[in-house]
Amino acid sequence: MELRGATALVTGTNRGIGHHFAVELLQRGAKVYATARRPELVTIPSVEILRLDINDQASVDAAAAVATDVDVLVNNAAFTAGGNLVTGDLDAIRATMDSNYYGTLAMVRAFAPILARNGGGAILNVLSGVAWTTVDGNTAYAAAKSAQWGLTNGIRVELAGQGTLVAGLVPGLVATDTMKEFARDAGLDLGTDVMTDPLDLVRLALDGLEAGEVEILDGLGVAAKATLAGPPQALDLSAVSAS
Ligand SMILES: NC(=O)c1ccc[n+]([C@@H]2O[C@H](COP(=O)([O-])OP(=O)(O)OC[C@H]3O[C@@H](n4cnc5c(N)ncnc54)[C@H](OP(=O)(O)O)[C@@H]3O)[C@@H](O)[C@H]2O)c1
Repeated sequence: MELRGATALVTGTNRGIGHHFAVELLQRGAKVYATARRPELVTIPSVEILRLDINDQASVDAAAAVATDVDVLVNNAAFTAGGNLVTGDLDAIRATMDSNYYGTLAMVRAFAPILARNGGGAILNVLSGVAWTTVDGNTAYAAAKSAQWGLTNGIRVELAGQGTLVAGLVPGLVATDTMKEFARDAGLDLGTDVMTDPLDLVRLALDGLEAGEVEILDGLGVAAKATLAGPPQALDLSAVSAS
């Protein structure tokens, strides 16, 4: 997928990995719709800023009515703090599934016809290595990411006929404020040697997309996938922590 001259829409660009996606796509010569549910927080010059809440169907439809020239959709936005499944707050667990699974699905359903009209294009879903394992303290997020991985595989089959490349980005730990806060709250010292820099991750993802890869993994993503060959196990964050 050639990114120079492409038109990309990225969800959740007001912070974290989504911000870097918008900046790097611009850098690679794409037109960029930088979307956020609080668009006033998007500070990237030379992008088209759109209000978009992926869990609000009217908001998704409004974005699809404006961004009719999109040929690259990056589903990055997600609520990631669901807590544990058995003891956690049920509303937080639902919000995690709502954004990772149903929000991504709403975006795919709204933009698949647009991608088809624009030659097929590509969808990049931002998944996580915890989709293939789990993590104590946030098992709800891991389960939602598993569902999102299944969704990604399903739509790849469904959209092959219209020529849409469907890729999943599968990172381990990425040094965003949200991840650093989670580590701090859990008393973990996750150094830069175990956390991927968000800009490095985005460059890896876009290189993979340009090369036509369907699954793009960083180091911990590779390790998480390897665990699938054995019995189910949790990612032990204390084992990768310095403390
Ligand atoms: N950081 C990691 O270690 C890591 C590892 C693996 C995968 N990931 C995945 O990478 C993606 C980004 O993670 P991150 O660390 O950059 O997260 P982040 O810093 O917490 O940012 C999340 C972004 O998603 C937006 N968002 C949440 N719900 C939304 C909704 N309903 N509609 C529109 N936007 C919404 C947030 O907007 P608000 O500011 O309005 O909340 C924010 O812009 C997520 O899919 C996450 O699961 C992250």
